[in-house]
Amino acid sequence: MPTSRRRFLASSTSLAAAALAGPAVVSAADARRPALLGGTPVHTGPWPSWPVWDPAWEEDFLRVCRSGRWNAAGGGPLADFERRWAELLGARRCLATSSGTTALITALHVLGIDAGDEVIVSPYTFIASYNAILAHKALPVLADTDPATLNLDPASIASRITDRTRAIVPVHIFGLPCEMDSITALARARGLRVLEDACQAWLAEYRGRKCGTLGDLGCFSFQQSKHIPAGEGGAITGMDEDLVDRCNSFHNCGRPVGRFQGSGFFTRGSNFRLTQFQGVLLLRQMEKLVAETARRREAADYLNARLGAIPGITPVRVPAESRGVYHLYPVRYDARAFAGLSRDAFLRALVAEGVPGSAVYKEQYFDGLLDEAIATRGFQRLFPAERLKAYRESFRELRGNRETCASVVALPQTVLLTGRPALDQVVEAFAKLQAAAPALAAAARAKS
Ligand SMILES: Cc1ncc(COP(=O)(O)O)c(C=O)c1O
Repeated sequence: MPTSRRRFLASSTSLAAAALAGPAVVSAADARRPALLGGTPVHTGPWPSWPVWDPAWEEDFLRVCRSGRWNAAGGGPLADFERRWAELLGARRCLATSSGTTALITALHVLGIDAGDEVIVSPYTFIASYNAILAHKALPVLADTDPATLNLDPASIASRITDRTRAIVPVHIFGLPCEMDSITALARARGLRVLEDACQAWLAEYRGRKCGTLGDLGCFSFQQSKHIPAGEGGAITGMDEDLVDRCNSFHNCGRPVGRFQGSGFFTRGSNFRLTQFQGVLLLRQMEKLVAETARRREAADYLNARLGAIPGITPVRVPAESRGVYHLYPVRYDARAFAGLSRDAFLRALVAEGVPGSAVYKEQYFDGLLDEAIATRGFQRLFPAERLKAYRESFRELRGNRETCASVVALPQTVLLTGRPALDQVVEAFAKLQAAAPALAAAARAKS
């Protein structure tokens, strides 16, 4: 049951007292005053940096350097990684690629996406999910977001299906699993392919199975900021050997591979291969990932319980029997419970307290990328003008996504790796701003 602001304030006086229990240099008034209004920040000093390098890995790198086998051809750490990543996920196969974007482009090609097709995708995602579809001259059709889960609202997908729709791309945003049973059931009933954008969902679980093994194919990113970083990198996972062989061929200039021999020589393809150096990094990072995922989950559960008790802060809902991995840790912010203090003004106050909160994605379909795409000669030739007009107008119907973009407050994953004292400071900062919301709102109004 949500806590009322008044009840919360009565119980949170102990927070200010706790703040006073430290070195006596901070007065009670100063501890309560938001840092943005001249008070003392709750957290000072840095948060953990990312990615993390371990000198114990250097010998593995040097071995690759000395071997002279630096590219993807023939075994090596890269092949070991592919085998072990598939094992860890319970996938039949895994193929490493040069990035999450090239994994998506490859998988879409293999699933038959062609110029003039439509692909339904989550609007609430990193822009690469749109771009991979556009790379095929297909239309990224945006279904709506459920603000409670931040993921595709399964109920909004059916109305977006046209006779050109070929696939659905659910994005497990922040590593929070989508409601996959409804999505795959709808796809099966309508003859559509499902490609999971699991680029942020390493080891996320949906009803006992790992994200990336639930659709026809799944794609991962290992870019610098990710939980298993290799500078750049990606992977495609799947249960169907033939599909993964086709991906392998496409990412390797269209060479015949395994069960997929194509025309016997080259078929269409590109060079989206990863290097052995990244294979070394991924193997080592994978060992870390398992333990760190458990720590992030434990921290997220703790924050959900503590922050969820603050009026106006709501943890994100995950499907039953499912576990997120929190590439970012998000909550939803309701300005009405914060004396009308806008989400962005709240974020400024939070950052001033030393807590690195951010708003993450905005309504990026109004930013021009999609307008630019559909204005090209190619799209104008491929789609009737009235379809493109209706497509553009449909962005305004994304009410759930608008609410989501306006209400998310997210923390970087490194915060979840810090331990209880720092997590308690995060909670203290939110609680302090809740208590001071009227003063902050008044200051924001005076400034505007
Ligand atoms: C949801 C999502 N999809 C796709 C990508 C693309 O991955 P990459 O940056 O490795 O190309 C990312 C990367 O940030 C992502 O977060």
